[in-house]
Amino acid sequence: MQDLCLIDSHCHLDRLDDELDGVLNRAQERGVGSFLCVSINMENVLEVIDIARRYPQVFASVGVHPNERQGQEPEMEALLALADDPNVIAIGETGLDYFHCKGDLGWQQERFRRHIIAAKRCRKPLIIHSRDAAVDTLQIMAKEGAADAGGVMHCFTGDWEMAVRAMEMGFYISFSGIVTFNSAAGLREVARRIPDDRLLVETDSPYLAPVPYRGKPNQPAYVREVAMCLATLRGCSLEQIARITSDNFRTLFQLQ
Ligand code: NI
Repeated sequence: MQDLCLIDSHCHLDRLDDELDGVLNRAQERGVGSFLCVSINMENVLEVIDIARRYPQVFASVGVHPNERQGQEPEMEALLALADDPNVIAIGETGLDYFHCKGDLGWQQERFRRHIIAAKRCRKPLIIHSRDAAVDTLQIMAKEGAADAGGVMHCFTGDWEMAVRAMEMGFYISFSGIVTFNSAAGLREVARRIPDDRLLVETDSPYLAPVPYRGKPNQPAYVREVAMCLATLRGCSLEQIARITSDNFRTLFQLQ
């Protein structure tokens, strides 16, 4: 019997090599019972929504990742029409990535603004990706009123000040396997200080597998390693981390 109930708040189930029933069963055996399958581009968004339709424990999001340059640009009407599906609980992932993308990134900022406006219109929280772009991410969030939609700073790698400013706008802070990496001492200190009512866990699978699986394909079952790391950091039990983060997930995405 497994009485843990962890939620993987960010995974890309449409991108895993393994067969989905097996992936979800392995997660369930390790106490991971719900999943938010996050959309990355317009080409795959229908598959993401279809997974959520087929599996009641899976939820979907709608959006286009800031690193997607080639595919279809998400127009407002298309985002809103897709977000109308009852399996869609969030808008994203969206945001800014100045690590992978260089040059004039006006297109990325414009796309980010459009996602924020869409989230406010459909009243669904945002999933925000931010890499090497803290100042502009926070500025656009503030200017566009992202606080009205709320959401999560996914795969958080920022500093304490960025976390505080995001939390002031009502955002949650989600930690991935990165928090377990040897080199991430600064991030662990941020994770230790995040208030209970703002904390989420994720895998971002198939990317960023936590220690001791680092370098291998990630899977939602490994959100348990992320949660164990947070429990150690915060001096509490794995069960407490599971309860706190799952309660936060249900509050943020209005599932209760
Ligand atoms: Ni992701």
